[in-house]
Amino acid sequence: MKFFVDSADLDAIAELADIGLVDGVTTNPSIIAKSGRDFKEVIAEICKLTPGHVSAEVVATSAEDMIKEGRILRKIAENVCVKLPLTMDGLKACNTLSKEEVPTNVTLCFSPNQALLAAKCGATYISPFIGRLDDITLDGLELIEDIRTIYDNYGYETEILAASIRNVNHVKECALIGADVMTAPPAVIKNLANHVLTDKGLAAFLKDWEKTGQSI
Ligand code: G3P
Repeated sequence: MKFFVDSADLDAIAELADIGLVDGVTTNPSIIAKSGRDFKEVIAEICKLTPGHVSAEVVATSAEDMIKEGRILRKIAENVCVKLPLTMDGLKACNTLSKEEVPTNVTLCFSPNQALLAAKCGATYISPFIGRLDDITLDGLELIEDIRTIYDNYGYETEILAASIRNVNHVKECALIGADVMTAPPAVIKNLANHVLTDKGLAAFLKDWEKTGQSI
């Protein structure tokens, strides 16, 4: 399972990259706004930190302008992936950019039918939003399951990039379902390592070791 960091926080990305936990990064206009940084500058800096794709999202709404913006974003760095909203214009832009071998991430996916369209339009990644479905008492993980089934039924190569991940349970369930990628905030990724029994067990080991009076 690839780990993408859903953030434009360079320090947080670098910290996780140093541990080997960063395969890619996703951003969106809200994340960029929160960073307070120049969009193209921060994407360029993130790309230098990241071994894999870095999603940079267009803000145009027409296919023609999305394609123009996508080509501009793609020039920032060789690992830029153009993020496009799941609208008919976004799908048209995806189809065009994918034929130009531009990596694409179709985002704001909330139904299996939307994911089916993205695969048919050649998307590199599909981003189904788990948390936002949960927020309205629907089952976000069920969407991941349905997309996995549909993509496997027809051998679609589009990778399921599970997004809007809010907690470690989302990560576990996505791994059990077989999502190709998960993207999560740095705090969620860090929390994956935490377990009270690990802390308790380590404290006991070190306490007993101290009694030996030895050092390594
Ligand atoms: O990559 C999409 C993600 O940033 C959305 O997360 O928590 O705003 O639904 P959230």
